[in-house]
Amino acid sequence: MLALMPGERRVQAAGREFWCGRLHGQEVVAVLSRIGKVAAATTAAVLAERFGVSGIVFTGVAGGLGPGVRVGDVVVADSFLQHDLDASPIFPRYEVPLYGTSRFHTDPALTGRLQAAARAALPAAALHRGLVASGDRFVSSTAEARALQAALPHALAVEMEGAAVAQVCHDFGLPFAAVRTISDRADDEAHGDFSRFVREVASRHSAAIVQALLAGA
Ligand code: ADE
Repeated sequence: MLALMPGERRVQAAGREFWCGRLHGQEVVAVLSRIGKVAAATTAAVLAERFGVSGIVFTGVAGGLGPGVRVGDVVVADSFLQHDLDASPIFPRYEVPLYGTSRFHTDPALTGRLQAAARAALPAAALHRGLVASGDRFVSSTAEARALQAALPHALAVEMEGAAVAQVCHDFGLPFAAVRTISDRADDEAHGDFSRFVREVASRHSAAIVQALLAGA
């Protein structure tokens, strides 16, 4: 992605490197979210407070949970939930305390544009749109994947950051959209499948989608 941003400026904040520059004539800040909900929330909060971004687009990989969601497919999130959040019996399972909801929705307009960009960038990939579950676990056993599927039958995919970024964007009133390519099925094969996918294709897919998004803006 940085190869597409000639003359980018590196800014260090909160121990992260933020890359500020222009992509297809638009001002962008590119950064790795880091892994897990807390790390991603910090990254999102810095983007909002320090860089004053007008919206956040997240790209990355996820484990497929939905029945037809296969390795190489694309999932565009319309909402996020934290599958490892449970403050019951004080609050219902999954509900984010004091928010009165368990789900944060992505911005419909930005999500529509991201979906169109994903379709243009990866025309051969099957594309799904719906709920994505986030939690601080790399789900890597068939038993755990089955338990998640039973508890959250509408969840298309599982990853470790999206719900946190969605909540931060809600707090800051920022439009948010997220797309994930499926690297594994969160099952007993997940570790090998994930490593192979991340090594061989993930960043190429992300860069292609972001380029298509900005080119079509
Ligand atoms: N990201 C990609 N694959 C994942 C998995 N199986 N669990 C959690 N996050 C992931």
